[in-house]
Amino acid sequence: MPHIDHLIITLDNAVRTLHGIHHHGRPDPAAGISQAELSDSERRHAAGLMRVDHTGEICAQALYHGQAFAAKDNHIRRYMLHAAAEEADHLNWCKRRLDELESHTSMLNPLWYAGSFVIGAAAGAAGNGWNLGFVVETERQVKSHLDKHLQELPRQDERSRVILQKIREEEVQHADNAIHAGGKPLPETIKRAMKLISGVMTTTAYRI
Ligand SMILES: [Fe+2]
Ligand SMILES: [Fe+2]
Repeated sequence: MPHIDHLIITLDNAVRTLHGIHHHGRPDPAAGISQAELSDSERRHAAGLMRVDHTGEICAQALYHGQAFAAKDNHIRRYMLHAAAEEADHLNWCKRRLDELESHTSMLNPLWYAGSFVIGAAAGAAGNGWNLGFVVETERQVKSHLDKHLQELPRQDERSRVILQKIREEEVQHADNAIHAGGKPLPETIKRAMKLISGVMTTTAYRI
């Protein structure tokens, strides 16, 4: 049964994530890179992609928070909360770029947060090996979205590109860390279900 302080941390994390309040703050990878000229349709497209990536990071936070909440021991709980805190920069960088592109974050983020938290908690309850294996698979799927987005961004949009490249680099590292920490490979059906859900997320977050 989770402790009352875990409940408080969990609520605090949810509020911070959905309102964009974070303590962590490494420099934005796009700092110092000049704004490119974008047509209206290019700007909208870049914003759509950045909105998907922002929602992906909301889901990542929620998964980690859910995994920490239901983790079997304190070591794994700390691992998940530490990873989530590190990832908070990803969320901030995407949000800032969306502001620059005169766009907004997805209106469905609270729903995605709630759903991802439940999925994360289920992974956490399944035991440490599965919990870490879930991190590995999540990070790999995020990486493959980022690969696609890096191809699709308007060619001259260097500011968005360096942000996504930096995030991609770190997601690969997160997957490796989770493998080394003992992540088990997930069953194919789970991987397919995760892809299905993230497909729904990417299609909707691009638009709303
Ligand atoms: Fe991330
Ligand atoms: Fe990550």
